[in-house]
Amino acid sequence: MLNQNVSKLLNEQINKELFSAYLYTDIANHYLNLGYTGFSDWFNVQAKEELEHAFKFMHYLQDNGFDVKLAAIADPTKKYADLREPLVDSLAHEEFITASIDAIFTAAVLVKDYRTQEFLNWFVKEQGEEEKNSRDNLLGFDLFSGDKRALMMFDKKLGKREAD
Ligand code: FEO
Repeated sequence: MLNQNVSKLLNEQINKELFSAYLYTDIANHYLNLGYTGFSDWFNVQAKEELEHAFKFMHYLQDNGFDVKLAAIADPTKKYADLREPLVDSLAHEEFITASIDAIFTAAVLVKDYRTQEFLNWFVKEQGEEEKNSRDNLLGFDLFSGDKRALMMFDKKLGKREAD
């Protein structure tokens, strides 16, 4: 039987992961509308990964006898000022998700819930990778944004990214 507070936080994390998928789909649409299909593909792949994360949390709770409750997903729509802003936002969002997962981990440590700590280890590692990818995208954009041709090549490269 999972601790009540830990279960509640895990259940809330499902919504955060689903929102991540929604947010990245909106960003993918933003890039697609501007003709940057590589950036768009990259965020679509990311959105699918976020859905997988949501299901991992849901299945973990269900495997432990918890009755999952799904809440409404917030509207992710935003009018982005330029090509760079979604990259800044996605890095900030990943840092927010990392803090959220760390908070669940801390709650699990507090009640000596070793099973949940073991489950969360995968996410702790994954967040390190996701933050790095987001930083790399921003770095790449800043390097190439002054040269349209170089930026289009970077866009093409992002479009060929495989899911991790
Ligand atoms: Fe599931 Fe990008 O955090």
